[in-house]
Amino acid sequence: MGTLKTLSMEWTGDSLKLIDQRKLPYVEEYVVCSTHEEVASAIKSMVIRGAPAIGAAAAFGYVLGAMRYTGGGLYEHMKKVKETLANTRPTAVNLFWALERMEKKFLSLDVNMDGLVEELEAEALEIAEEDIEKNKRIGELGSQLLPNNAVVITHCNAGALATVDYGTALGVIRYMHENGLGIKVYVDETRPYLQGARLTAWELVKLGIDVTLISDNMAGWVMKTKKIDAVIVGADRIAANGDVANKIGTYSLAVLAKKHGIPFYVAAPTSTVDLSTFTGAEIPIEERSHHEVTHCHTVKVAPDGVKVFNPAFDVTDNELVDAIITEKGIVRQPYYKNLRALLEG
Ligand code: MRU
Repeated sequence: MGTLKTLSMEWTGDSLKLIDQRKLPYVEEYVVCSTHEEVASAIKSMVIRGAPAIGAAAAFGYVLGAMRYTGGGLYEHMKKVKETLANTRPTAVNLFWALERMEKKFLSLDVNMDGLVEELEAEALEIAEEDIEKNKRIGELGSQLLPNNAVVITHCNAGALATVDYGTALGVIRYMHENGLGIKVYVDETRPYLQGARLTAWELVKLGIDVTLISDNMAGWVMKTKKIDAVIVGADRIAANGDVANKIGTYSLAVLAKKHGIPFYVAAPTSTVDLSTFTGAEIPIEERSHHEVTHCHTVKVAPDGVKVFNPAFDVTDNELVDAIITEKGIVRQPYYKNLRALLEG
């Protein structure tokens, strides 16, 4: 049995242990998942979140589904395991990408063979380990777009917590820091769920990176009055034409960046690119509980009975995106042609 241990997750060989991101930064607690249903519930309730992280968690959930199989039709059982894991969060394509890969592996195996579970486990570990390598490469490539001592704005959390490790947008920031290139970060608090304030600020403070927290409505003023070299964010799904779904508020940042002549970069592994979705209009946008908006984390800030709209993601039009940084290279317009060439080349 293989194992893996990072900040966001630990695969013990028999269970998946997740740092409870709902409780950070106040307490560091862990949720142990021993069944695929528990992994699905952890994804849905945002114990684990961030596109690459939920993809890898689902892959381990798939392994747990195979491990706990007790008889009956194995194909039917694994189909249900996949459905349960897929039916959690609709926007991040990495979830479906990882489950497709696990199913493909399963279907390539002889169901009567010894070591079937071990083969699936090896595939899940490969997905997880590849993610770390991809993020390091994204970090290195993305750093080439930034000047030394860069000042950037980021949104949500695209760090080690949102991936298996290292991060995508924060991977670029981290690479700059680790290689002595100098980096200063403004992070939006990212209402309503506060991934910026709670998670990104926590990660960057822990790494000793210069980080300043702002509320979301301050970003325009910061762009106007401070020297900002770039906006850099992660992604949940990138359509074939380069439209980018990411945490709600990303679109506003991209519009503001355009107005101020600031480059807007998206850092994401190729597993976030969905060539079967032609434009952003086709990307399903998750709507979450009204409670997230009527409350600021746990404190109620709105009157009873008020109507609420809570889309968890938005779509940034490709013409606002200056470059997409993937582990395979940096892509620019025309995205439809260049993303296809990158993925299929
Ligand atoms: O709702 P979340 O916290 O799962 O949303 C996460 C994001 O929007 C991230 O920016 C995205 O998944 C990229 S993570 C590397």
